[in-house]
Amino acid sequence: YIVHLVMESTLTARDRVGVQDFVLLENYTSEAAFIENLRRRFGENLIYTYIGSVLVSVNPNKDLEIYSKAHMERYRGVSFYEISPHIYAVSDNTYRAMRTERRDQCILISGESGAGKTEASKKILQYYATTCPVTDHLSTLRDRLLQSNPVLEAFGNAKTLRNDNSSRFGKYMDVQFDFRGAPIGGHILNYLLEKSRVVHQNHGERNFHIFYQLLEGGEQDLLSKLGLERNAQKYQYLVKGCCPRVSSINDKNDWRTVRKALTVIGFHEDEVEDLLNIIASVLHLGNTQFGEGKNGENQITTETQLKYLSKLLGVDGAALREALTHKKITAKGEEMISPLSFEQAVAARDALAKAVYGRAFTWLVVKINQSLAFKGSSSVIGLLDIYGFEVFQHNSFEQFCINYCNEKLHQLFIELTLKSEQEEYEAEGITWEPVKYFDNKIICDLVEGKHKGLISILDEECLRPGEPSDISFLEKLEDTLGGHAHFVTHKLSNGKTRKAVSREEFKLIHYAGEVNYSVNGFLDKNKDLLYRNLKEVICQSNSQVLSQCFHREEVTDQKRPETAATQFKNSLAKLIEILMSKEPSYVRCIKPNDAKQSGRFDEALVRHQVKYLGLMENLRVRRAGFAYRRHYETFLQRYKSLCPGTWPNWQGRLADGVATLVQHLGYKPEEYKLGKTKIFIRFPKTLFSTEDSLEARRPALVLTLQTSWRGYRERAKYLRIRQAVIQSAWRGMISRQKARRRRHAVDIIRKFIKGFIYRHYERCPENEYFLDHQRFSFLMMLFRNPPKSVLDKSWPIPPPCLTEASEHLCRLCMRNMMRAYCRRIQPEWKKQMEQKVVASQIFKDQKDSYPQSVPKLFVASRLNSEEFNLKVIQTLGNDKVKYGIAVTKYDRRGYKARPRQLLLTSSFAMLVAEAKLKQRIDYATLRSISVSSLSDGFMVLHVPSEDNKQKSDVVLQCDHLIEVVTKLATMADKKIKVNMSPDSITFAVARGKEGVIDFTSGPELKVAKCKKGHLLVTAPKLNP
Ligand SMILES: Nc1ncnc2c1ncn2[C@@H]1O[C@H](COP(=O)(O)OP(=O)(O)O)[C@@H](O)[C@H]1O
Ligand SMILES: [Mg+2]
Repeated sequence: YIVHLVMESTLTARDRVGVQDFVLLENYTSEAAFIENLRRRFGENLIYTYIGSVLVSVNPNKDLEIYSKAHMERYRGVSFYEISPHIYAVSDNTYRAMRTERRDQCILISGESGAGKTEASKKILQYYATTCPVTDHLSTLRDRLLQSNPVLEAFGNAKTLRNDNSSRFGKYMDVQFDFRGAPIGGHILNYLLEKSRVVHQNHGERNFHIFYQLLEGGEQDLLSKLGLERNAQKYQYLVKGCCPRVSSINDKNDWRTVRKALTVIGFHEDEVEDLLNIIASVLHLGNTQFGEGKNGENQITTETQLKYLSKLLGVDGAALREALTHKKITAKGEEMISPLSFEQAVAARDALAKAVYGRAFTWLVVKINQSLAFKGSSSVIGLLDIYGFEVFQHNSFEQFCINYCNEKLHQLFIELTLKSEQEEYEAEGITWEPVKYFDNKIICDLVEGKHKGLISILDEECLRPGEPSDISFLEKLEDTLGGHAHFVTHKLSNGKTRKAVSREEFKLIHYAGEVNYSVNGFLDKNKDLLYRNLKEVICQSNSQVLSQCFHREEVTDQKRPETAATQFKNSLAKLIEILMSKEPSYVRCIKPNDAKQSGRFDEALVRHQVKYLGLMENLRVRRAGFAYRRHYETFLQRYKSLCPGTWPNWQGRLADGVATLVQHLGYKPEEYKLGKTKIFIRFPKTLFSTEDSLEARRPALVLTLQTSWRGYRERAKYLRIRQAVIQSAWRGMISRQKARRRRHAVDIIRKFIKGFIYRHYERCPENEYFLDHQRFSFLMMLFRNPPKSVLDKSWPIPPPCLTEASEHLCRLCMRNMMRAYCRRIQPEWKKQMEQKVVASQIFKDQKDSYPQSVPKLFVASRLNSEEFNLKVIQTLGNDKVKYGIAVTKYDRRGYKARPRQLLLTSSFAMLVAEAKLKQRIDYATLRSISVSSLSDGFMVLHVPSEDNKQKSDVVLQCDHLIEVVTKLATMADKKIKVNMSPDSITFAVARGKEGVIDFTSGPELKVAKCKKGHLLVTAPKLNP
């Protein structure tokens, strides 16, 4: 032991007793060593030990101080191996696996009655309720999850010889978590409630807790309403075990807890009332007695009970009386009523009590599920707390079912542990030799096989016509199963073993041990029969809860209901399916003694459990390959200080680091294997020596660590101070800068306001800033948006101080624009413009037709050169015709109109008729030109006539008058005077004689001689 202790002590400082993981047990095939390790740890209150990842828990039967909130915190996010084994470590690892691997998990808790399964499941639930994130909204759900336990325990648990709070039903509970890991819902599946307890208890046992709780805790009002007395001794269903009170149970307190829990879960007051009515009615049923009537018939002798029953169950009293004493049978299509014998009536009564209670329990689970329901996607952790393997003096149908269930779960355990082990070696690329283990499939088949299985034989016997009985069932079993290695009866066994089986028993050799089952009651319990007329009465109940428990269709439904065993078999198959779809973790519970005592370790009892829990096999499987495995990272982290190559840090691949490390440690090739992500170590010895080296090196390490820690701490302190100094300087600078900016802004605003007030004063210190700003913004505005075109006359209004400058600027700007514009003008256009300017100088505001003429462009000539007469052109010699137009000439006398061409050269104008040059007018002699102010085409060229030869003034009419006059004026170098007369033009005719043209405005142009001998021209007025 001393050698052992040295090696074992090192894994954690706290857990120095034994090994905390059985795989580290040197003598791993020895059951004695296994049990000794358990015992030593148990002696030190170390109730938890691992086999790899399986947790073995030994019931301490006393409160240990290891379930506080601080303990929960300690196990959060911590790996299995870093800290002593605990149910919280399993809870946390499962939770983390669910969150990181996103795979549904389940925790399978097994062990025999009283080993601590239910406590373990409650501890797990509490761990999640305390450590998982929770919002206000979810805290309701968390409370409901937690409160579902006391309710289910009140109705489904009872004191047995093994356990004061034994669960008499199997329970599988899903806890659903959302993506944040917060519990958001739950669902409970319940399995086979031990209903027979309602009507009968073995010596030293009790009925379900709720009966005692109601009688002890219920208010007086309530009890009288239910017709109950506060005395359990008065009730036949509660006295069979002779054990109304248990020291470890406080029924009164529990009653309060349950009532509160029912409210938290969300039960309605009238639902609770209905439920308690049912509980009370069960007690009344128990006290319902039968006796012989006057005519020897069997009748109910307790009227009060019947009265309460009819009230509490909400059924007709007479019908109930009839149904409790008669049965309805259908023979050859005819319904017949036949009276029940005394025994039959008692059986019918008990059947009713069991049915009512059993269904109320199922209803309870359904209601709890409704209150925990969450629809939506979630991850799940399932908790299986199901009855453990059970062996009593007398074992009946219930034990048969329970032990069958354990066979199934054991098979699942074998399959999953072996499978996962094998899968791990495969995944890591490690070769492994399969381990021999006992496969209990043969026993499962013996029970559940299709035609030759126990259950199907039982069903067949229940249904067959004739007179089937428990004994005929036993005979059938012997016929069918005789010779099976795991099935024995009195008749089938030989002399030696015969004594061990009585005539009414069959023995099953379970994987966990041999169990004798008495066939008594098998058929009835399997049929789970309630006489039809009793069922009919209950189906008519006006109690809400009962009508939900018993559906009316049931009575009319012709289909034979499934037998109890088949129902159980099917629900187990479903359970296995659920568990298979999840990642399992195991908690194996062990009961250290049968007396519920603390500190007593009954080796024989423990050995038995170790055996049938398959713990040794489990260990062997775990050890067959490699006792110890660790991820490279973890391994390197722990032991890197043992090798200079890996200390203080390994830089390369992790696998290479581990290879370097184990080489340095001198591991032999057969001692370890390197997988893909893990190192596998075959013998614990190897690990222990490594641990020893680590322990030996620790003082040196601690010293190094301490030195570097102190250095680190000092440096950290220095850095903190430095950081603080820099930070405060920086903050100061920033805030100074801010203050500066703020001051500046205030200053400017103040100046602005003051400047605005003084804006009309001479420049002075008060308005300086404002005026400058104004000037600046005006100039900037001009700069950014100068006038775009010469025609755009808009100009921003300058501030008063800039009026003069603004004018200059505007002129400059215009000139600039104009210059730019002129520079862009073509020569053609320039000529045109020059002429237009001349026209404007002559006619603008003088002649009515002028505005209309402006947009019409002047042309070079109105006559083409082909239209000129060649002879005339020849006479010109060097002079060229620059402009020609067709005109009408009026004789000075008689005003006869004659068509002529007016041709202009650079020095004279001439009138041409056909080929004859009629008149030549030198510009030098042209005195002036007269035109009217109207829109007519008349003009008179005034030419002096000193001699007769010279023709005198010429009266002409033409289109394009303005153009013609402009051309004349241009060619004659603008020396010609143009007269504009509003109403008449006088011209010379001959030697002192004068002619007159009168102008008047009218609707249209008209030329006529008038009476005075004047020429009268009527012209429209185009412009007002
Ligand atoms: N971890 C534990 N610490 C203290 N007492 C325990 C513990 N586990 C079980 N017990 C005690 O053992 C009793 C039976 O445990 P329980 O979980 O009901 O057994 P099971 O469900 O396996 O039949 C509990 O009522 C409690 O008194
Ligand atoms: Mg239990």
